[in-house]
Amino acid sequence: MTPPHEIIEMVEPLPHVAIIMDGNGRWAKSRGLSRPEGHLAGAEAIKRIVKAALYRNLPVLTLFAFSSENRLRPEAEVNFLFNLMHRYFDEHLKDLAKEGVYIKITGEIDGLPQATLKLIEHAQNATRVNSKMTLQIAFNYGSQEEIVYAAKSIATKVSENKLSPADITKEVFEEHLRTAGLQSPDLIIRTSGEYRLSNFMLWQAAYAELYFTDVYWPDFNERELDVALKEYSTRERRFGRIIDDDNSNDKKNKSFHEKFSLEKASK
Ligand code: FPP
Repeated sequence: MTPPHEIIEMVEPLPHVAIIMDGNGRWAKSRGLSRPEGHLAGAEAIKRIVKAALYRNLPVLTLFAFSSENRLRPEAEVNFLFNLMHRYFDEHLKDLAKEGVYIKITGEIDGLPQATLKLIEHAQNATRVNSKMTLQIAFNYGSQEEIVYAAKSIATKVSENKLSPADITKEVFEEHLRTAGLQSPDLIIRTSGEYRLSNFMLWQAAYAELYFTDVYWPDFNERELDVALKEYSTRERRFGRIIDDDNSNDKKNKSFHEKFSLEKASK
C-alpha cells in the first residue's frame, strides 16, 4: 500500500487515539441529503481512518460509534445505525482479522438485540488472537453508566467480602471499568466543531490531549488525522508534574520556597 501523502514523523510511544465521530447529520444537511446518507458517508470515513491508523501503526484506535443517549433518537435512525454496524462487520471483519486487528466492543451490551450480541461475540472471538492494532468500538456506551457499573461491581465484591474498602485504589477502580485492560486514550479527537466530551471516557480522559476540528466526520480523512497527530506531537504532557530542563531558576525557587514556608510557620 502506498501512503496517500507524506506521513508526519510520529512521537513515540504512538498514542491511543480515540475519536468522537460527530457531524454526519449536518454534513448531510449541508448537501441537501438525508441523515441516513450522512451516516453512510460516516461509515466510509470509518473505513478510511481504520486503514490509516493501521498504516501509521497506532496501537489502539477507539471510535465512539453509538452513545447510550443516541438510543433516544427516533427508532428508525437507531435501527439504521445498528444495521450499519452489522453491515460494517459483514463487509470488513475478514479483512480486519487478516490485518491483525483485535476488535473490542465497549459499552452496555446487556439488553441489545440477540443478533447484535451474536455479531459482537463473533467479531471479538474472530480477532481475539490479533495484536497489531486494537479497534475499540464504543457502542451503546456512556461514561456515566460505565462509572456506575464499576461502582456497582466493586460494591458487590465488598458485600461478598471479596474486596476490602481499604483496597479500592485508582487501579482497582479502573479494572472494573468497561475499558479494563486497555490503556487510556492519549489523544481524543472530536469532529464537527463541538467542544465537549458528551459522556465519552470521562474517567479515561483525565490526562488525554483534546483536539477539536470543525471538519464533519464524513469529511475526516488521513490528512485530517495527520494534522491532529502533528498537533499532538507538539503537546507537552506533564501529568501534573514539572518537566523543565532549565535549572537556572533553581536558586530563586529554593529561596522563595524557604521564605514562604518560614513565613507560614511563624504565623
Ligand atoms: C454523529 O453524527 C455520529 C453518530 C451518531 C455515530 C457515528 C456513526 C457512524 C459514523 C455510522 C457508522 C457506524 C458504524 C459502527 C459502522 P450525528 O448524527 O450526531 O451528526 P449531527 O450532530 O450533525 O446531527
